[in-house]
Amino acid sequence: MNNIATIILAAGKGTRMKSDLAKVLHPLLGQPMLSYTIALSLNEIKAEKTIVVVGHQADQIKENFKDLKIEFALQEKQLGTGHAVLQALPFLQEFTGTVLILCGDVPLVKVGTLRSFIDTFRGNDSTLAVLTAVVEDAYGYGRILRSEEGWLDRIVEEKDASEEERLIREINTGIYCVRASFLKEGIKEIGKENAQGEYYLTDMVGVAGRRGLRCSAHMVSDPTEVMGINTRIDLATATEALRLEKIKELMLSGVTIIDPKTTYVDRTVVIGKDTTLYPNCTLQGHTRIGERCVIEPNSKISDADIGNGVTIRSHCVITESRVEEGAAIGPFSHLRPKSEVKAKAKIGNFVEVKKSIIGKGSKANHLAYIGDALVGKEVNIGAGTITCNYDGLEKHPTVIGDRVFVGSNVELVAPVTVGNQSSIAAGTTVTKDVPEGALTVSRVKQKNIRGWDKKMDLHRKKSRKKKG
Ligand code: UD1
Ligand code: MG
Repeated sequence: MNNIATIILAAGKGTRMKSDLAKVLHPLLGQPMLSYTIALSLNEIKAEKTIVVVGHQADQIKENFKDLKIEFALQEKQLGTGHAVLQALPFLQEFTGTVLILCGDVPLVKVGTLRSFIDTFRGNDSTLAVLTAVVEDAYGYGRILRSEEGWLDRIVEEKDASEEERLIREINTGIYCVRASFLKEGIKEIGKENAQGEYYLTDMVGVAGRRGLRCSAHMVSDPTEVMGINTRIDLATATEALRLEKIKELMLSGVTIIDPKTTYVDRTVVIGKDTTLYPNCTLQGHTRIGERCVIEPNSKISDADIGNGVTIRSHCVITESRVEEGAAIGPFSHLRPKSEVKAKAKIGNFVEVKKSIIGKGSKANHLAYIGDALVGKEVNIGAGTITCNYDGLEKHPTVIGDRVFVGSNVELVAPVTVGNQSSIAAGTTVTKDVPEGALTVSRVKQKNIRGWDKKMDLHRKKSRKKKG
């Protein structure tokens, strides 16, 4: 939208979160709370300027959003919402349009709501507008007092309200539109003669009234959109609202979700059509899942790229990895960061892969550790195979060629290279490179001692006699 600057208030302490982490950095469906209002301003409203007012844990917050096109105003002491906005004004010296004021702890507000709020404000010739909601329990909020014609007369805070005023259920959401010229002038008139001794931004309504300027109130239809987050209970409520929204969006786009109640998908996750998610899956971060995949129960996938037609069986953990078309993972597999499983490969029960490439059509079906390895095409990795990649000081690579057969219980002591089409016998400890096409065996030769059972019998009898 044109000619808009946003001020996001985020300097408050968030005492009720009882946390060392700044309140606005607590994650909501995988992303810090404050990122929602910042994203609204930058990507949806496309404001000319976005100014975030920080105070408590300012450095923590700045660090989190340092690469974005936003500016930070510092409010050293939290003397109230009016004082907070005042700190942002030096950044708006040249700006003459509409200032949109948002709160960092009111993250669920929708862009459609803000657009119609701004449009109504601009169309109704008021100098300030407040977004309001009608709620069941208005305790703690500023109450909206309207004139007979419906204009906004006053906002009265809980602590300053009369008993009668406290009965009002239309509340101030803390979101405002205000003309920049009026904001810059009027804010100087705000005092702190109130129950909390704070500079109330809401007093701007009175300032406008004294100048004969009109203020308006615009009501949202769904109060959950404007819920403020103050406690971890609120955090869970807001997360649940966002989670359901995401789940519905996925289902409408062609993803089957067997149990919407227990499926957790971050906002940032992308899933292709005809993919099925079974109960208790958690998909996080920048995960992308292709079409026609099956994700079985209890799997956790973070920042991974999963191709089309992949099956992830139950109880898998996949992090920062890539799985190509038609591959199958699990049950009980762990793909640690920088793993790449090529097309149609299989990683099975209790197999851990770390920083390795598993070539096309290769299989590691049972109980293996593959770390810092390059595994070629159509390789069979037997049960119990381990790449010994760590010598206590450094990590070393294992390179396995195409169509290699690695028998069960093989140790590959890295650095080591295994040539194409070679075979490694079960139980072998590979310490030297294996030439192409060779069979490698390193085990103690088997010895069969006949009549061992009779020898043992004799031994037992003797020992019984001794004991008497
Ligand atoms: C404020 C409103 C109240 C409204 C409520 C909605 C005032 C006087 N009252 O209440 O009418 O119903 O929000 O939630 O404005 N903040 C700062 N610096 C400060 C104080 C607050 O940046 O000095 C920020 C907070 O981080 C928060 C927002 O402003 O994001 C609102 O502050 P908060 O203390 O939660 O709201 P109230 O003062 O209770
Ligand atoms: Mg307060």
